[in-house]
Amino acid sequence: MQLLMMGPPGAGKGTQAAILVKKFSIPQISTGDMFRAAVREGTELGKQAKACMDAGRLVPDEVTVGIVRERLAKEDCANGFILDGFPRTVEQADALTKILDELNLKLTRVLNIHVPAEDLIERAVGRRICKNCGATYHVKFHPPKGDTCDECGGELYQRADDNEATMKKRLDVYEAQTRPLVEYYKRAGIYAEIDGRQPIAKVTADLEGVLTSLH
Ligand code: AP5
Ligand code: MG
Ligand code: ZN
Repeated sequence: MQLLMMGPPGAGKGTQAAILVKKFSIPQISTGDMFRAAVREGTELGKQAKACMDAGRLVPDEVTVGIVRERLAKEDCANGFILDGFPRTVEQADALTKILDELNLKLTRVLNIHVPAEDLIERAVGRRICKNCGATYHVKFHPPKGDTCDECGGELYQRADDNEATMKKRLDVYEAQTRPLVEYYKRAGIYAEIDGRQPIAKVTADLEGVLTSLH
């Protein structure tokens, strides 16, 4: 099953992908997570990505496509994967089609989590992430039981781009560069939209409903 999880910043892509990873035992491929890992490691890629991320801009297509190409060629992707936050431009979508052609694969479904812009800033500003295992919380919508991660006891942190000003820029970038992909994948006939304003478990149930209707 080759899935693509789409949606604006803060829509719940990462939250839902993490749940589906456990259910289907296929890897989540989040370009945002890959860039943040590179920033932590202090690589050249990390330096370039950090400048873009902190400004709320996209990392250049050629860089992003390169890391996804390498990642999809790994063995753990042979039985499927969940792309989270890639593609984000028409150029990236065209590149993905080519990469999948080379691997003899096709996207099974494009799942777009729809959340109106007015909800998204609150979601990002209240997000907390575990430094150790990456589990994602929200101070209001999905609070941890204490000050540390429920899963592993790790320290929780806030992403550098999860402030109101950067989030506004990220939403503008989404409208200008990523929203056109909705029409792109509608034309391909594999598109499904899910209402992301519902509780997390209900969003998961709707996603699963779309996926079981495939068989
Ligand atoms: P990336 O890390 O992909 O960020 P994003 O797309 O902005 O999306 P987020 O991770 O912010 O949101 P999400 O949808 O995963 O939401 P989550 O589940 O965490 O990208 C960051 C940057 O990297 C980009 O700006 C760019 O610079 C660069 N980049 C990445 N990919 C790129 C690409 N392809 N090309 C170029 N550049 C790229 O949920 C958010 C919060 O809401 C959490 O607190 C969560 O607990 C809460 N929540 C989740 N679901 C619900 C719900 N149903 N109800 C209430 N709260 C909920
Ligand atoms: Mg995410
Ligand atoms: Zn943790």
